[in-house]
Amino acid sequence: MSVRVVIGAQWGDEGKGKIVDLLSDKANYVVRYQGGANAGHTLKFDDKKVVLHLIPSGIFNGDAHCVIGNGVVIDPVALVEEIKGVQEMGFELKDRFFISQTAHVILPYHKLLDQLKEKRRGGDAIGTTGRGIGPAYVSKVSRVGIRMVDLLDKDVLRSKIEQNLKDINFALENLYKEPVLDADELMSELSESIELLEPYICNTTELLHKAIRNEESVLLEGAQGTLLDVDHGTYPYVTSSSPTSGGACTGSGIPPTALDKVMGITKAYCTRVGNGPFPTELLGETGELLREKGAEFGATTGRPRRCGWLDLVALKYVCQINGINELTLTKMDVMDGFEEIKVCTAYKLDGEETDVFPLCLDEIRDVEPVYTSLPGWKNSIEGITSWDELPSTAQSYIRFVEEYLGVKFTIISTGPKRSETIIV
Ligand code: GDP
Ligand code: IMO
Ligand code: MG
Repeated sequence: MSVRVVIGAQWGDEGKGKIVDLLSDKANYVVRYQGGANAGHTLKFDDKKVVLHLIPSGIFNGDAHCVIGNGVVIDPVALVEEIKGVQEMGFELKDRFFISQTAHVILPYHKLLDQLKEKRRGGDAIGTTGRGIGPAYVSKVSRVGIRMVDLLDKDVLRSKIEQNLKDINFALENLYKEPVLDADELMSELSESIELLEPYICNTTELLHKAIRNEESVLLEGAQGTLLDVDHGTYPYVTSSSPTSGGACTGSGIPPTALDKVMGITKAYCTRVGNGPFPTELLGETGELLREKGAEFGATTGRPRRCGWLDLVALKYVCQINGINELTLTKMDVMDGFEEIKVCTAYKLDGEETDVFPLCLDEIRDVEPVYTSLPGWKNSIEGITSWDELPSTAQSYIRFVEEYLGVKFTIISTGPKRSETIIV
């Protein structure tokens, strides 16, 4: 029995989908605990490619039960579409898919406000995914949110929507100069999704506690990456939830004392989608090359991802914040063919070198990365499944990173497919 958390250790898109899919083979429960359909987790198996936004990445391992925890914000229409896609692939959800009663609902006005707010920010836009995430968490924290359980009582739902629309329509009319929304239309837009989701809505906190009491294995799947965490990330250029290990507890109802292992996932380089500081970003040819070789385009929005060298200052901070005790390295194959590979081992700030990740925007924006150069390798390592087959320079690269961080890699990924993996 074990309770493990899988954490994105960068700005997202580290390959969480691939690794959770792989690990869920031995899990009884796979749980999403934060974020919403802003996530895009890619899985490749049996010549299939699937992108999941809300459903946990264990859904294609027949025995794993999949749970959407209380910390997630759910767009019912997007979720139903995803459920139908999974069912069409021949995978059964009955009795193995559960949605928390207390997860909050993303309504069409959250998506609309997300897009309107971004437009109003102009040059200061965050570059959100436009999926309504920020406004939905605002509703939650301001205590006017609608929860999944509210969908089950039409009168309650209608009255909550009407209450919310008073403020929202005021803002639409007076601030954004947009047409107002109608409660009847919102109710009818939701009705089909509610009917389909109803059988899955339950008390997932008790479900997970029962699993832990029965010594079953639970895998918690973070969406987003730690540097997008609303508290510990590069605020305000972050998402509105906590992908960190602390968030895994609040977003699932599993206590910190029940966690056995915190696993971090990092790529062999760095990417970021949307705006905000990125100290090791490569704006020239090398960045282009990484984007092309790594196929770095957003799994949710299709936007080109910004690319750069691996940032060990940031990664060390991420290990501390989460208490990471095991690491996975993904996209190692993308580094094939580089004569030299750089890793950032310190920042220069106000003329001084530091290995402490700055927490304030004006500092993190101003740091200059200090690089250590490591030798690359010529041969392709794509699809390699054993440590011994790795060129010695690739092994040295991994050892260098481990030594800097004081944390070991237990999984090395050498391609997007389940099978293209080294278990160290
Ligand atoms: P997630 O959001 O963390 O699940 O990551 P994404 O799915 O958004 O992005 C990761 C991308 O890299 C996907 O297209 C994966 O199929 C792909 N991928 C994952 N691991 C590897 C790997 O080791 N090598 C290569 N070349 N691609 C990988
Ligand atoms: P996965 O799960 C990469 C980024 C957006 C934007 C910021 C806020 O695939 O790793 P939001 O829509 O959340 O309000 O946008 O966060 N972002 C992601 N970047 N991968 C993701 O998810 C992301 N989810 C949100 O680009 O900069
Ligand atoms: Mg992604």
